[in-house]
Amino acid sequence: MGGRIEGKAAAVTGAASGMGRAIARRFAAEGASVAVLDCDREGAEETTKMIAEEGGKAILVPTDVTEESSVEAAVGATVKEFGGLDIFINNAGIVIMANVADTTVEDWDRVHNVNLRGTFLCCKYAVPQMIDQGGGAIVNIASISSFVSIPMHAAYSASKAGLLGLTRDIAVSHGRDNIRANCVCPTSTDTPLIRKAGAGRGALKRMAKMHPLRRITEPEDIANACLFLASDEARCITGIALPVDAGWTAQ
Ligand SMILES: NC(=O)c1ccc[n+]([C@@H]2O[C@H](COP(=O)([O-])OP(=O)(O)OC[C@H]3O[C@@H](n4cnc5c(N)ncnc54)[C@H](O)[C@@H]3O)[C@@H](O)[C@H]2O)c1
Repeated sequence: MGGRIEGKAAAVTGAASGMGRAIARRFAAEGASVAVLDCDREGAEETTKMIAEEGGKAILVPTDVTEESSVEAAVGATVKEFGGLDIFINNAGIVIMANVADTTVEDWDRVHNVNLRGTFLCCKYAVPQMIDQGGGAIVNIASISSFVSIPMHAAYSASKAGLLGLTRDIAVSHGRDNIRANCVCPTSTDTPLIRKAGAGRGALKRMAKMHPLRRITEPEDIANACLFLASDEARCITGIALPVDAGWTAQ
């Protein structure tokens, strides 16, 4: 039996680590050819190697989503290698923790350059390709902070809320092109990002207890949601923001 996205060409940004790696591996396991886009070359090589060892197909495309020329080249390289681009996952993201008064202008720009402007650039180059080939699916990784406050995340929350607007615009403007665009909004997930932000094992356990389901998400939970939204099973779903949050935003 074929996989759920058998034969599709997918690109995943931030695929060198955390959720992006889990998404890339799951997509390859479900039959997609996967372009691993990241500025961390070593981590991206590791992801590509893992996928090959698991019997999947992946290529490494070194990419900095903050550089327009890098994004344009990455989309071009993916299309050249796979003959098309059916799925684009905008997952690359950074967090800088600070409240609004303590956020420097440089930090505000850094966060927005990756999280929001980077996603804009990737969509800017992926969408014309998808139009040319008759459709595609985009999934943007936002956050529960797109909806509710997480203290000390001023720039991050603003960038993640911005993704909802960008995603809705793509969904509505390009529905007629058979392009779907959706967001997945994770709660705290155990990845290098949250560890770097200072959450140790104890803090993650405490966070889990504060969620209705008494757990936080694993990168694989996010990969599952992305897989569904990227697949034809979700052919009538566009413009939504799906919390994968163990009930956090329902409280
Ligand atoms: N971990 C969480 O708790 C959490 C919660 C909600 C949302 N998210 C979001 O999920 C996404 C993935 O986060 P993660 O937790 O897996 O983080 P991570 O730090 O493990 O991975 C992020 C990846 O993005 C890459 N990246 C950063 N800047 C880049 C750039 N300019 N160009 C290309 N790649 C770049 C990094 O090299 C890294 O491989 C992010 O968008 C993050 O904001 C994470």
